[in-house]
Order: sequence, then C-alpha cells, then structure tokens
Amino acid sequence: MNCTESNRHHVPPNQTTNPITSKFRKFTFYSLPLLFLFIAISLGFTKTNYFKVQYLKYSLTSPSLFHAPKSVSMRSHCVLWMAPFLSGGGYSSEGWSYVLALHRHIKMQSFRLAIEHHGDLESLEFWDGLPHDMKDLALELYQTKCRMNETIVVCHSEPGAWYPPLFDTFPCPPSLYQDFKAVVGRTMFETDRVNGEHVKRCNRMDYVWVPTEFHKSTFVESGVDPSKVVKIVQPVDVMFFDPARYEPLDLDPIAKQVLGSGVRNGFVFLSIFKWEYRKGWDVLLKSYLKEFSKDDSVALYLLTNPYHTDRDFGNKILDFVESSSDLVEPASGWSPVYVIDTHIAQSELPRVYKAAGAFVLPSRGEGWGRPLVEAMSMALPVIATNWSGPTEYLTEDNGYPLPVDRMSEVMEGPFKGHVWAEPSEYKLQVLMRQVTNNLTEATAKGRKAREDMIERFSPEIVADIVADHIQSILGR
Ligand SMILES: *[C@@H]1O[C@H](CO)[C@@H](O)[C@H](O)[C@H]1NC(C)=O
Ligand SMILES: *[C@@H]1O[C@H](CO)[C@@H](O)[C@H](O)[C@H]1NC(C)=O
Ligand SMILES: *[C@@H]1O[C@H](CO)[C@@H](O)[C@H](O)[C@H]1NC(C)=O
Repeated sequence: MNCTESNRHHVPPNQTTNPITSKFRKFTFYSLPLLFLFIAISLGFTKTNYFKVQYLKYSLTSPSLFHAPKSVSMRSHCVLWMAPFLSGGGYSSEGWSYVLALHRHIKMQSFRLAIEHHGDLESLEFWDGLPHDMKDLALELYQTKCRMNETIVVCHSEPGAWYPPLFDTFPCPPSLYQDFKAVVGRTMFETDRVNGEHVKRCNRMDYVWVPTEFHKSTFVESGVDPSKVVKIVQPVDVMFFDPARYEPLDLDPIAKQVLGSGVRNGFVFLSIFKWEYRKGWDVLLKSYLKEFSKDDSVALYLLTNPYHTDRDFGNKILDFVESSSDLVEPASGWSPVYVIDTHIAQSELPRVYKAAGAFVLPSRGEGWGRPLVEAMSMALPVIATNWSGPTEYLTEDNGYPLPVDRMSEVMEGPFKGHVWAEPSEYKLQVLMRQVTNNLTEATAKGRKAREDMIERFSPEIVADIVADHIQSILGR
C-alpha cells in the first residue's frame, strides 16, 4: 500500500458541516494551510516528505472533509488573528508576538482568540524550529470556532494580501468585510509613504493599526483616514529574550569567514537582516572595513538569508569590496567578516545575540525592526539608523541612534519612487569605534535598553493595549 492511501485514513469522514463547527463554512476551501501542515507534522512528515504534504493539501481541499470535532464553548466574541504564522520573517514573528502576549496575559477577557495562517507561504523548516509551547498553542488556537458576526478579524500582513488579495494567498478577511463584527488591518511600511492602492485598502478597513508615530504620520499624509489609524506598539518577548537565561552560542562552527583572518576573543558586532539593499549592508561593510583593521581585534558577523537572491553572500561581499574604490586593505589585513546563512531555529536565536558585544543595523528604512528590539531585550547596545520605525524606541540613553546624511529616492522594487534615509557612513564608523572604546558606556546603554523594553513593550503591557482597543471596538 502506498503512503498516500494510508494518509487518507487519517482524514475524518464526510459529515454535514454546520455554521458553528466549521470556522467559516463558505470558505473552508481556503481555510486549510495550517491544518494540512499540522496534520503533516503530526504524521511525522519531514521536509523531505514535501510531496506528501502537497498531496495532503490537495486531498484536504475538498470542503466536505473539513469539519471540527469539538463542540464550541460560546464565550462571547472572538478575535481572529490572521498572519503569516508559519512563514518566518518579519510579519510572522510579529504576529506570534501578539498572539503569545494575548494568550498569556488576557485569559480573563471577554473574547476568545483564534488564528489562521495568511499572507505568505508556509515553511516546514520554520515550523520545525518553533519551541514546543508555540506549536501547541498554534494547534489549540487554530481550533477556536467563531461566528463571523461576533468576530473581529485582524489582518496582519501587507495590504496586498487583504481581500481581494493581489496574490495567491488565503484572503483576509476570509469573506466580505461586512460579514464580521469589525476588520482591522495591521501593517507598516519602510518608506516615507503608502502607495495609492494600499491607501484604498487601508480605508476599506474599520481600523488600521500601525506600530509607531512615524507610521501614523506617513499613513495619514498618504491619505489614510486619520480616524482609522491607531498606534499599537509591538511586544517583544522579554522573558524569552532574557540574557540571564542563556550561554553564548559558539558562532565559529556555523559562520563562514569571508574577509580577514580569525580573531579569537575579539569584540563581536552582530547584524541580522534579509539580504536586500534597504538593510544598508553596503554602508555597514564600508564603515566597518574603513574603521577597523585586524589589529583592532573586532569581528563582524552577518546573520542573513536570501531575499529574491541566491545564497552566495561571500562572493557578493568580496565583489562589493573589490568594486569599492574607497576601500583599501589595511597593512595589517582586513578586520574579519563572517557570514551565517544557515537557518537558525527561533529557540537558538537568543544565544546568537548573547554571543555578540553590540548589534548594528544601518537600514535605510524599517517598519519596526524586530532584531533591534530583540537585541535590546538581550541588553545589547544597538546602533541603528535614526529614522522610521526605530525612532519609536531607540534613544541616546538606550542605544546609539545613527544620524542620517540625507533622504534618497528608492530606485527599485515595490517602493520605487518613495523616499527613505541614507545613514551616515562616517558617523557609523564613529559610533562603532565609540562602542569598542567605551565598553562601560555601551554596557550601560544595553542595560537601559532592556529596562525600556520591559517597561514599554513587554507582552503584558502590549496585551493590555490591544485588549483595550478590542474592548472599545466591541463596545461600539
Ligand atoms: C450572530 O449570528 C447568530 C446566528 O445567526 C445570532 O444568534 C447571534 O445573535 C448573532 N450575534 C450578534 C452579536 O449579532
Ligand atoms: C534622531 O532624530 C530625531 C528626529 O526624528 C532628532 O530629534 C534627534 O536629535 C536625532 N538623534 C540623533 C542622535 O541624531
Ligand atoms: C565613557 O562614556 C562615559 C559616559 O558617556 C563618559 O563619562 C566617559 O568619560 C567615557 N570614557 C571614555 C574612556 O571615553
């Protein structure tokens, strides 16, 4: 018997669906990515069984097979949070941070929490790397059954994924906007504006939640109805990203040396980013290589992954250095640069931060900057561009805001024609040097950074902010 035949027996037999036991009866056809992934995993499939998962997806897309086994406790209203929970990446970890915060800190509220995957492709690798408690929670919240008319949907993704989606994804909201109690769009951008199509999509929502004052003003200036725009900051899991709980990860076995030669026990600068121009890796390399030589006993580790590029980061860096006429190898040799391009499980991430002395990210624009707040929660001194999202939390007391030289036009990609910031290469040199010259100051800023994260963005604080807004929507 082949495996596909045997899998079929794990699928419940046909039954008539009813409006309560299936989450959204009309749309069960779409409402399956999370389910099929969970079933795939519970059957012990691995990445190499991807074809089985695909088969399962296919076999499950018959609406008649989708029904809920459990009866429903009708505790009043629901919040259905729809985000790329199974994808990894910015919106994914952001979505998780809210769901964990709400689940852990507002158990006594008058609404129940449900989740649905939406907005990006699922990644088995990402799912595999999640801590067990998060996997269990995902399975639990996925099964929450809600009545549409008693549900507030939060579409946590880029507006192109909102109903009707501009690309192939499970739409959010899952049916017409007016079928639900309310629909909230949660989004952000990394440039100075929101394009016309996205403005229209924002204005179709009852509310648009954005993370920072920066976004409040850019959204309103772009034409989003000011009465809909609400600032909801992002939580950071200060218990999980707690430096007291971890030993540093030994980076050498996972890092590839790209430039320079080994420096043992040197000061480590860490940067984490998707490989794209926006992240300012060019600025970082130039400033670092101009400022330091092998004699300084520092090292730069770049934890990166592809973004519409291949993985050949080593050669990209070498090409960049060779083509930059203002970069000249110091007499003592380049200060070392390492690349880590393997997948780091979420559960290992705190130990990567713990291995660093400082975190540095000279982006041209950020929505929020999750690695920055994670690093700050880990009490690392952070150097980051003083523009866009990070201005919400990065100050001279808790880090090193990197001054901007000028604004520049985005030359390619979906934000072509928008404007973002050019961080100062020279000031970045100065700040990196300042960190290594004055570790007392750097440590004090790192300590303050963690205090600020706890005080302003810890899950219980942000859960309260979210719950208050939900209550006010329910009370309308
Ligand atoms: C939602 O719809 C159900 C079934 O149609 C109805 O019993 C319930 O009262 C409605 N709830 C609200 C808040 O209108
Ligand atoms: C950061 O930018 C703000 C304006 O957004 C400015 O007031 C502040 O002085 C800047 N800080 C630094 C260190 O450049
Ligand atoms: C380190 O920074 C502190 C606080 O900014 C300052 O008071 C001190 O003079 C600095 N020390 C050195 C060696 O630069």
